[in-house]
Amino acid sequence: ESGLALVNDGTLTVCSNIPFEPFEYVVDGEFTGFDVELTREIATGMGLEHEMQNVGFDGLQSGTVLAARQCDMIAAAMTVTDERAEKLAFSDPYYDSLQSILAPAGSSIASLADLDGKKIGVQQGTTGESYARDNAPEGAEIMSFQTDAELFQSLQAGGIDAVLQDLPVNQDHTEDGKYAVTATFETGEVYAFAMKKDSSTELAAKVNEQLASLRENGKYQELYDKYFTE
Ligand code: ARG
Repeated sequence: ESGLALVNDGTLTVCSNIPFEPFEYVVDGEFTGFDVELTREIATGMGLEHEMQNVGFDGLQSGTVLAARQCDMIAAAMTVTDERAEKLAFSDPYYDSLQSILAPAGSSIASLADLDGKKIGVQQGTTGESYARDNAPEGAEIMSFQTDAELFQSLQAGGIDAVLQDLPVNQDHTEDGKYAVTATFETGEVYAFAMKKDSSTELAAKVNEQLASLRENGKYQELYDKYFTE
């Protein structure tokens, strides 16, 4: 692994933004989730230890944490966008996603138009935030929160009327039946792991190689079923 120039020799150090369940969250003080387990498999396949760090989403999507050599790779249910691809090198995609509205069960909010005169919460720096700014009616107030946890707490406290966020994560908040996904938007988003631009060609190639073999040997599907099937 000499050519990889990892932040910590022998370890794949991965930055994420937690919680974003079921991709990354904490149970009994341990990081878990689809991204966490998938990148652990990738590290193991490369003969490396695996370490996760929780940082703000803005620092992830701007590439700051990679430039500062805080981690080797970002695994944060991060959507590939043209703007991000100017600053980050992306792996092959590993998950297809879309946007959605989460609202109290029985609420009349079933489209973005229904948010006129209402408050919609988004996570700062995300594609959900951009989607809301580009598509919500003029009369909607868009409120940005640092984490999905703060976003959902505000919905529970009645501080906002609805949440615009990636579907699998909104879906995760519907389990007790108090909240429902009332609309979905086919944005055609794909998630990929992000690395430092220019200097990470070799790392990206190795990560893609591992991803391909996890798809081939059924491990990817096993994790997918574990986190995305009820
Ligand atoms: N997929 C969205 C984006 O890339 C949201 C990702 C938020 N991820 C997180 N771990 N908080 O903008």
